[in-house]
Amino acid sequence: MAPNARHAALLLLVVCLAAGAASAIQDGMLPNGNFEEAPPKSQLNGTRVTGRNAIPRWEISGYVEYIRSDQKQGDMILPVPEGAAAVRLGNDASIQQRLALTRGAHYSITFSAARTCAQAEQLNVTAAPESDILPIQTVYTSSGWDSYSWAFEATASSVSLIIHNPGVTEDAACGPMIDLFAIKALQPPQSSKNNLLKNGDFEEGPYFFPSTQYGVLVPPMDEDDFSPLSPWMVMSSTKSVKYVDAAHHAVPHGARAVELVSGMETALVQNVSTVPGLPCRLQFSVGDAGNACAGSMAVQAYAGRGSVKVPYQSKGKGGYKRGVLDFTAIADQTRVVFVSMAYNMKPDGTLCGPVVDDVSLVCTRNHPARRLLL
Ligand SMILES: *[C@@H]1O[C@H](CO)[C@@H](O)[C@H](O)[C@H]1NC(C)=O
Ligand SMILES: *[C@@H]1O[C@H](CO)[C@@H](O)[C@H](O)[C@H]1NC(C)=O
Ligand SMILES: *[C@@H]1O[C@H](CO)[C@@H](O)[C@H](O)[C@H]1NC(C)=O
Repeated sequence: MAPNARHAALLLLVVCLAAGAASAIQDGMLPNGNFEEAPPKSQLNGTRVTGRNAIPRWEISGYVEYIRSDQKQGDMILPVPEGAAAVRLGNDASIQQRLALTRGAHYSITFSAARTCAQAEQLNVTAAPESDILPIQTVYTSSGWDSYSWAFEATASSVSLIIHNPGVTEDAACGPMIDLFAIKALQPPQSSKNNLLKNGDFEEGPYFFPSTQYGVLVPPMDEDDFSPLSPWMVMSSTKSVKYVDAAHHAVPHGARAVELVSGMETALVQNVSTVPGLPCRLQFSVGDAGNACAGSMAVQAYAGRGSVKVPYQSKGKGGYKRGVLDFTAIADQTRVVFVSMAYNMKPDGTLCGPVVDDVSLVCTRNHPARRLLL
């Protein structure tokens, strides 16, 4: 290579590296994440998208429909959650977008989904090598559209996000609708001096669209999955918890909290390192999200061999009380667990429940509050 050519190549490399670093995606909506940029008419047959790259910024495979909100679905009109368009994934269909990310960083994806046919619909979400099946059969809003979150680690600086409908039904056009995709880089959870739990106030979590009135579901996961609410995990077979923000809800502390919307079927869990034999005190808030979820609520907290039930009478207008659980650590890992002991419903028939927030765990031989109590 001539010196000039080598210089030019080097310069190109430097420019590319700089561009690569600068182009990692920003928090917020993905490019055409709301599908408002439409496919050209020439690549639509009715609602079916015929070209692989017809939807700007996305690549499709299989039976994918481009749905406008004024179009009839059978004999009903399905409103879309934002703007005027959404996408439906038919049998085994998928849609994907390539994302420029920071290698090694953790990200959460927020998106809206609505099931359309009355069966156990699921979505398979992949950012290789992470791939998970999200159950979407339980509907938590009266509109039929729920916001879901999912997390992964970027193992490369360019990763394809793939949303796939693994279902196969007689009607090829039957399948979930999706819309409104956003991304957020997750900060590593920090421990603080006075709290063994990380993210105890639930401030670090998935992206909220300012228009997201009904919170963001955090679906169940396996213990080795990445969590959008890290290091909190959601343990259930098919049911979620709901992440709520102060802009649209009553939140006991800070800007965010978790609403336990699935009764006894779902546990909110975090493992912490503890010293066996040390006395510990778990403190937390139990309240309601101010979202018309009224009635008798109860949150059961478990840690070590201890447990406590905190009843809370909700008027659906916000408010909370503090719960306390004193226990002795029995292992070098203590699992802190919160479960709602009742099923609650809003007047519109959708599931709701108590809010948990501001959780702290302190283990010490010299617990000042404890000495006062004894
Ligand atoms: C559009 O779809 C219909 C029904 O599947 C098919 O019969 C027709 O040939 C398609 N039109 C074009 C232009 O591909
Ligand atoms: C989920 O989607 C990924 C990527 O398309 C695919 O490799 C995987 O086989 C799918 N999993 C299921 C269970 O369909
Ligand atoms: C969490 O703690 C429980 C015991 O409290 C233990 O059985 C489980 O293996 C732990 N999980 C992880 C991922 O460390």
